[in-house]
Amino acid sequence: MLKSPNFTTFQPAGSDIDGFPVVERRLSQLDKVFAEPDAFAKTLVAQENPRVYTVSSVAPAEGDGQLHYGLGKIMPGKVGQEYFMTRGHYHEWREAAEIYIGLSGTGYMLLETENSDDGQLIPLIPNSIVYVPGFTAHRTINTGHAPLTYLGIYPANAGHDYGSLAQSNFRHVVVEENGAPTLLRRTDYLAQLKAKNEVATP
Ligand code: NI
Repeated sequence: MLKSPNFTTFQPAGSDIDGFPVVERRLSQLDKVFAEPDAFAKTLVAQENPRVYTVSSVAPAEGDGQLHYGLGKIMPGKVGQEYFMTRGHYHEWREAAEIYIGLSGTGYMLLETENSDDGQLIPLIPNSIVYVPGFTAHRTINTGHAPLTYLGIYPANAGHDYGSLAQSNFRHVVVEENGAPTLLRRTDYLAQLKAKNEVATP
């Protein structure tokens, strides 16, 4: 079959764009991404440093006006009450938007902007398309019991800025409460946890 960056193939529930490299993120590489350090440490040991997600990217061309794309796959799983998710990023070129297309599984995208306190939780499911505007941090979350796969398509010049979120993280968390994914302010969630721990260890 023809193989070139202008024509690629993939399996909807696979982890690679056929013939292109796959970058793997295991839990140990996601230190400080999850809200609960104790739950992180426990999951790391109990699940022997599980694979959390993979990305297979294609860069057909470079420069203004060109596009890159990637196939993402997030495994099902949890760290405490939080679901397995990506590290998340802003684009280095803040104006750059992105399109996500859900392929398989059930999940959400968490969107935040630098200049507002809002957090938006948008479903990412098969046959759905999420538009991530420029100036928006985005993180993908698998809230289901099967792998979540999706395509992301973005300007070639977008770049990935992980550093801006490395210290402060997203201002919201998505946690399982009463069996359902729930969007909470990080500060509120951390206060909840603290209160719970104080009751548990008087
Ligand atoms: Ni992006």
